[in-house]
Amino acid sequence: MTTLEHVELVGEGVDRVDGPQKVTGAARYPNDFGFPNLAHVALVRSTIAAGRISGLDTGAAESAPGVLAVITHENAPPLGRAPDTFLSAPPPPLQDDRILHYGQYLAMVVADTAEQATAAARRVRVDYEAAEPVTDMHDPRAELLTDPGGVDSTRGDPEAALASAEVRFEATYTTAPNANSPMGLFATVAAWDGDALTVHDATQWPGYVRTALAQVFAVPESGVRVLAPFVGGGFGAGLRAWPHVVLAALAARMVGRPVKLVLTRPEMFTGIGHRTSTEQRIRMGATRDGRLVALDHESTTTLQMEGNNIEACAAGTASAYACPNVSTRDRQVRLNVTWCNSMRAPGEAQGNFALESAMDELSCILGIDPLELRLRNYADRHPQLDLPWSSKALRECYEVGAERFGWSRRLPEPGSMRDGDWLVGYGLAGVSFFWYQAPCQAGATVRRDGTALVRSAVTDIGTGTYTVMAQLSAELLGLDLERVTFELGDSDLPPGAQAGGSGLTAGLGSAIHAACRNLVRAFLDTVRDDPTSPLAGCTVDEVSVGRGRIHRTGSPERGESYADILSAHGLAELTANGASTPADSQQLGLAPAGPFGARFVEVRVDPSLGLLRVARIVSVIDAGRILNEKTATSQIIGGTVGGIGMAMFEEVVTDAGTGRIANATLGDYLIPVNADVPEMEVIFVGRPDRFNPIGVKGVGEIGLVGIPAAIANGVYHATGRRIRSLPIMIDQLL
Ligand code: MOS
Repeated sequence: MTTLEHVELVGEGVDRVDGPQKVTGAARYPNDFGFPNLAHVALVRSTIAAGRISGLDTGAAESAPGVLAVITHENAPPLGRAPDTFLSAPPPPLQDDRILHYGQYLAMVVADTAEQATAAARRVRVDYEAAEPVTDMHDPRAELLTDPGGVDSTRGDPEAALASAEVRFEATYTTAPNANSPMGLFATVAAWDGDALTVHDATQWPGYVRTALAQVFAVPESGVRVLAPFVGGGFGAGLRAWPHVVLAALAARMVGRPVKLVLTRPEMFTGIGHRTSTEQRIRMGATRDGRLVALDHESTTTLQMEGNNIEACAAGTASAYACPNVSTRDRQVRLNVTWCNSMRAPGEAQGNFALESAMDELSCILGIDPLELRLRNYADRHPQLDLPWSSKALRECYEVGAERFGWSRRLPEPGSMRDGDWLVGYGLAGVSFFWYQAPCQAGATVRRDGTALVRSAVTDIGTGTYTVMAQLSAELLGLDLERVTFELGDSDLPPGAQAGGSGLTAGLGSAIHAACRNLVRAFLDTVRDDPTSPLAGCTVDEVSVGRGRIHRTGSPERGESYADILSAHGLAELTANGASTPADSQQLGLAPAGPFGARFVEVRVDPSLGLLRVARIVSVIDAGRILNEKTATSQIIGGTVGGIGMAMFEEVVTDAGTGRIANATLGDYLIPVNADVPEMEVIFVGRPDRFNPIGVKGVGEIGLVGIPAAIANGVYHATGRRIRSLPIMIDQLL
C-alpha cells in the first residue's frame, strides 16, 4: 500500500469521535458501572508511616448496619504476586502486619451501601507499634541505590574536562513531590462468576490488569476480563495494578457479591503513586565562546520501601547536547513514602528543569543569548549512540519559536523589561524527550456494508486515541472516517500496549498499519484466482486504496470495492491482525528520536507583592507526523498546564514526623485554574519520523516538559532572582 507515502505532516484536526458521548454523559467511566446486588467497599488506611499493627478491633464495624465483612490481614487469604512489568508490581495487600507508608491499606469494610461501608470503616480500631519513619532524603538511615535503572552513562572524561574548562558552573536544583490528580477518581468494580472475573477499572493498561489479577487470585487469565472504555485521566497513575484493584476483587470473592470500590480524593494522594521529589546537581564546563566541554548531572529521587520506580532525571542529559565529556547518574533513596510512580514525563519533567535552568545560568555567565547557546551546542547526531537521529527538527523548533514569540525583542539585562508595575521576563527551554515504544497488536475487519472495525486492548485516557486511530485506519483502508470505528478498553481485544511513555501512538499505529496491510492482503488473496477481478494476481505492494476500494496503483479504474469482493465471494466480512515491535536501532542505523520542542514563555512579576503570572507561551514541537492537529494541540496545551502546575503550584506537603500528607485534597493541593493559564500557541514542525512505518512520535508528555525551566528562566530575566526549587512560591519573589 502506498497511502502513507505522500501524507501531510499535520493531519486534519477532526473533532473527537467520542466527543458527543462525553458531552452528553453517555460515555461510561469505571465508576459508572455496576452489577445487580452490588456491595460497596470502604478502606481503612494507616495513620503512621512505619511500624506494625499491634492490634485490630473490628467488632464495632462488623456489627454496624449493612456490613457484610471486615477484611484485614488476619482473615484475608494468601494472595499471589502480580508480575512486574518495567515497573514492579506493588505487593498484594493485607498479607501481614507491617506498615511501610502513611495511607497503606490496613482493612476494608464491605457493606450494602457506600455510606454504610464508610461509616463502619471509621469504627475499625487499629493499634500501632510505631517506628520512627525515614521520610527525609538526607536521613543517614535511608538506603541509597545507585544506577537503579541501569541507565547511567559516561562519555569522554568529564572530570578532567571540568578541571581544565575555561568557564565552570555548578548548581543544585530541587523539585517537590507532585500528585497525578486525574479528575476521575480511580475506581474498580469487580464481579466473580466461579473462577471468572469481570472488572471495570481506571487503568491505562487493561491487559496488564488482567494478567495481574489472574496471578494474584491464581485463576485462568482467559476468564479474567478488564474493561476501561473511558478513563477520567491518568497521567501515569494507571500504569500499575494498585492494591485497591486487588482489594475490590478480593472483597467480591469473599462476600460472594459484585463490589464497587471508588477511591476518595484523599486516597488518590496515597494510593496511586506520585511524582517523586528530586535533588539534582549539575556541573558544566564550557569555552568562553559557549561550547560545552563537560556536563555532569547527578539526580537523587525518592523511592518507596519496596519495589522499583523508573525516574531517570539525569539520563536524558546524555543526548541533549553535543558535548564530548558527559556523565549522568541517577540515584534513589528509599523512604517511608507512598509509592513513587510515573507522572507525566517521568524523569524528564524534573531533569529538564535542572538542565535547562543550568543552560540559562551558563548563558548569563558567558553573556551569550540563551537561544544562541543552545544552537552552539546543537546535537546534529545522537551524541551518545553516535548515529543519525530518526528525525530531529529541534533547530527549526527554536527558529520558528523565536520568530513567533518575538525573542529578538528581549533585552538581555535582567529586570530591564517592564509593563507598568510589572516586571516582564522572557524565558525559554529546549526539550529532547526520550523515545519509547512497546509491542502492540491490533485487529482490523471490513464488512460487506463497507464499514470497518479496528480493535486493540488499549485505553484512551483523554488523549484522543479513539479519534486518531479511527483516522489512521480510515486512511490505511481507504475508507471515509465515518465508516470506521475503533474499539478499545477491553482486555479481550487483541493485546495492546499501555497508554504510557508517549509510546502508544507509534506502537498501536504501527500495529494498525500492519493489520490493515494484512487485511488488504486477505482481500487480494480472496480474488487471486478470480479471472473476473481486476485485482487478480496483485500483491499488496502493487495496489492502493481509496473510496472504499482497492485498485492497482496508478490505475484507479482497475479496482474493486471491499463490498463487491465480499459479496462476490459470499463473505460477510474479512478480518486480519497485525503486530508491531519497536524497530532495531543498529539494524536501521538510526538513533530512535523522541519528540523535540522549544518552549518560549513570557512571565510578569509584581515585585512588591511577589505575584507571578504567565502571560503567554509559544510551543514549537517536532513530534514527527501529527495524525490530528486538533487533538495533538490539545495534548500540548494540557501538558503545558501541567507544566505551569509543576512550576508554580503543585507540592505534596508531607509532615516529616509522621509521613502524613497534609494537603491531600484539591482544595489544598493547588493545580492551575483557568485564570492561571495564558494564551498558548502551539506549532508543529519537522518531518515524519523514520523509526516506525507511520512516521509519528508521541505528544503525550512533551507538552509538560520545559515549561518549568522556561518559567524559572523568565523569572530570572524579569527579576534577576534565580529560583532553583519548584514550585516557585511568592516568598521567593519578595
Ligand atoms: Mo505516562 S507518565 O508514561 O502515563
